[in-house]
Amino acid sequence: MEFEKYYEDRKKLINSFLEKRIAAKGISKVDEAMRYSLLAGGKRIRPLLLMATAEAIGKNGYNYLPVACGLEMIHTYSLIHDDLPLMDDDDYRRGRLTNHKVFGDAMALLAGDALLTLAFEVMLEQKNVSPDVLIETVREVAMCAGNFGMVGGQVLDMEAEGREISLAELNTLHSAKTGALFVAAVRSGARLAGADAKQLLALTRYAELTGLAFQIIDDILDVEGNPEEMGKAAGSDAKRHKSTYVTAYTLVGAKAFADKTINEALACLQPFGDKAEPLKEITGMICSRHN
Ligand code: IPE
Ligand code: IPE
Ligand code: MG
Ligand code: MG
Ligand code: MG
Repeated sequence: MEFEKYYEDRKKLINSFLEKRIAAKGISKVDEAMRYSLLAGGKRIRPLLLMATAEAIGKNGYNYLPVACGLEMIHTYSLIHDDLPLMDDDDYRRGRLTNHKVFGDAMALLAGDALLTLAFEVMLEQKNVSPDVLIETVREVAMCAGNFGMVGGQVLDMEAEGREISLAELNTLHSAKTGALFVAAVRSGARLAGADAKQLLALTRYAELTGLAFQIIDDILDVEGNPEEMGKAAGSDAKRHKSTYVTAYTLVGAKAFADKTINEALACLQPFGDKAEPLKEITGMICSRHN
């Protein structure tokens, strides 16, 4: 119950920051398309993780809303592009029609581009930290979002369609396409809050494992989730002959692997004691989620 309030409070702050920071009306229709996807809801896990990590280091997570919300913009752009007909070709996202279904493919592409760009503008507006810390934080976010991170993972995902891949390849794929932004969120929160090298290392491992588990559970939900609850279609992976943890290990095997990964992630938080309570709760929520 307490965590529910914690989550709701932070989600409200994140949503109102996003609402304020994205133009209601700009010089073209692209702003409407950007707002459509960004303000459509979503669990806001990445900004939440950033804030909770800062709290594990003893700082107030509210101080870091610009970087936290920049990450949510990058994530939303990745979803808009992920749903395009030339990628996963999905019709529903966050409980409504996908961006391209409403605005057309070209506008969806551009709304994604503009969200990615706006993210960097917003992150660089972060106050309360030294320029050196902010530069290093944003540099790392860029790396995690690009060819060595999320985009690279999306390419591996695309290339794994319709063929069997090894466990090592599957881990690399999941860690890049989803894990990298989790790592960006956690490491940003840690760095902005002044974590030392040892703390940064433990938290990085926590984030890698949590990101991996998050994507395994996404694969499971694609098979047995309820589209109403998820706000997106089920069965999308099978339709595209994707390589997932479920195709490799069956539902039961994938669930066991997710549990093991989550437990390993939780163990990384042990040195942070009570201050990591919100991070532990978020990990638990990820584990038992239905959407
Ligand atoms: C969906 O991300 C895409 C994956 C990386 C699995 P989320 O499940 O965090 O989507 P939203 O933000 O809640 O819509
Ligand atoms: C997408 O993975 C990960 C991204 C980088 C967007 P999925 O393709 O499995 O995400 P969903 O299931 O469409 O949300
Ligand atoms: Mg995809
Ligand atoms: Mg998809
Ligand atoms: Mg999926």
